[in-house]
Amino acid sequence: MTRSRPGPDAPDSRFGPGRHALRGATLSFHADPFLSDPHASYTHLPDALVVIEDGRIAEAGPYDRLRASVEGSMPVAHYPDALILPGFVDTHIHYPQTQMIGAFGEQLLEWLNKYTFVTEQQFADPAHAAMVSELFLRELLRAGTTTAAVYCTVHPGSVDAFFQASQRFDTRMIAGKVLMDRNAPQALRDTVQSGYEDSRDLIAKWHGNGRQLYCITPRFAATSSQAQLESAARLWREHPGTYMQTHLSENLGEVGWIAELFPDCCDYFEVYRRAGLAGPRAIFAHAVHVSEDELCACHRAGAALSHCPTSNLFLGSGLFRVFDAKRADRPVRVGLGTDIGGGTAFSQLQTLNEAYKVAALNQTRLTAAHAFYLATRGGAHALYLDDRLGAIEPGYEADLVVLDLKSTPLMDFRMRYCADLMERLFVLMTLGDDRAVRATYVAGRPVYDRSRQPAPFRYADGSAAPAPAC
Ligand code: GUN
Ligand code: ZN
Repeated sequence: MTRSRPGPDAPDSRFGPGRHALRGATLSFHADPFLSDPHASYTHLPDALVVIEDGRIAEAGPYDRLRASVEGSMPVAHYPDALILPGFVDTHIHYPQTQMIGAFGEQLLEWLNKYTFVTEQQFADPAHAAMVSELFLRELLRAGTTTAAVYCTVHPGSVDAFFQASQRFDTRMIAGKVLMDRNAPQALRDTVQSGYEDSRDLIAKWHGNGRQLYCITPRFAATSSQAQLESAARLWREHPGTYMQTHLSENLGEVGWIAELFPDCCDYFEVYRRAGLAGPRAIFAHAVHVSEDELCACHRAGAALSHCPTSNLFLGSGLFRVFDAKRADRPVRVGLGTDIGGGTAFSQLQTLNEAYKVAALNQTRLTAAHAFYLATRGGAHALYLDDRLGAIEPGYEADLVVLDLKSTPLMDFRMRYCADLMERLFVLMTLGDDRAVRATYVAGRPVYDRSRQPAPFRYADGSAAPAPAC
C-alpha cells in the first residue's frame, strides 16, 4: 500500500463507517467456468477501484473511470503488484483440529479414534475452546479466507466460543455443534434429545446474529443413529435458512462400515437422503468414492460437495473427481475445503495446488480459472451465498483478499516469465501460500494486514487483536 501508513496502534480510517476504497488489479468471476467458456467467466481489471461503504461494495470499476468521484473525498489504499480477489471460501473445516494437523500414520477410522476423539475432548473446557477459536480465525484470515463452514465439537460451549471469536472480527461464518450419539467415546456423545435441544438453543442464539449462520452438524452416519439423523433433519426443517453439514464417502473402510450399519440403503448418500438430510444448504465433505447415482441424487437435491484435496491425500482417502461432479448435464455444487486437521494447510492456494494434482491423477486439467472460481464464487455458490459473497460487484459484502504476486524471491523470479494473467494465477496457486496474502478485508475493514507489525490483526471495532495466550 503506498499511502502513508498508520502505526500498528494508530487509528485507521478504514475502520470507520465512512466510504473508502482499494485500488489495484482485480479478479472476479461472473460465470461458472465448468459450465461455460472459462476465458469468458471472469472480469480482470488491471487497475481498478473498489469503493466500500457500510461494509459493502458500493462501486467497482476501472480506476480511470472512477477516479474523479473519489479523488480527495475518501482514503484510498493502493496495492500495486497485487491482485484483489473476493475473500476465499472454505466449505469444510474443523476448528478443534487445529492442534492436531499432521498427526502421523493413520487412515480415517484409526485417525479418528487415535487422534481426533482424544483432541476434541479438550473442548469441554470453554477457555481452551476460546483460545483455539481465536487462533483458528487468525489462521483463516492470514490465509485470506473470510467465510468457512466449520465443525465445532459436541460441546455447546465450543460453538459459543467460536461464534464469539467470529463476531469480534465480524466474519461471516457457518458453524455448528457436532451431533454424535454412538461409536464415539462416552465423553463425546450426546443423545437424540440433548443433541436436538442444544442445537435448537444454539440456533436461537446464533443463527442470523450479525453475520453468523448456524449449521446442523451430524458428524457422519457412523456416529449418529438413525434416530439422531432424523432428529437433525427435523431441526433443519424447523429452521429454514440454516445449513446442514456432514461427511460422505471419504474412505473405503468407512464406506464398507456404512453399508453394514445401513443395510437397507442402496448407497451412502441414500442414508442421508432417506433421513431427510439432502437439500439446498446441505454440505457433504469429500465424496471421493461416490457413484454416478449418488452424484445424480446430489444434483437433484441441490446439495453441495466439499472437495478437500490436502486431506484426501494426507489421509490416503482417494481422488475426488471434480470434473465428473460438475458435469454440465447434471452439475453438482462444489466448493473447496481444507478439512483441517485431516487437511494440512489453511491456505486455499495450497489447497488449489493439491486440487490440480488430484485432477491430474484423474487425467483431467484444472485450469487457474476453474481453480480460482472454486475458491471464491464457486464456494459461495455451493453455500447459496453467491448473491452476496464471492464476487467484486456493487452490493456484495466487502470481504476481500489482497494477494501479493511477488511474495517470495522464487515467485517474484517465476512471475517474470509469465505471459498473461492465467499463467500468473497458476504460478500463484502452485508456489503461493499464506505469505502471498498482503491483507484481508472483512466487511470492508482490513482485519489482517501483513505489514502491520507486530500486530497484523485488528478486530472489527478497530482495536488491535492481541495474540491468544496459548
Ligand atoms: N469423518 C468423520 N469425522 C471426520 C473428521 O473429523 N475428519 C475427516 N476428515 N473425516 C471425518
Ligand atoms: Zn472433515
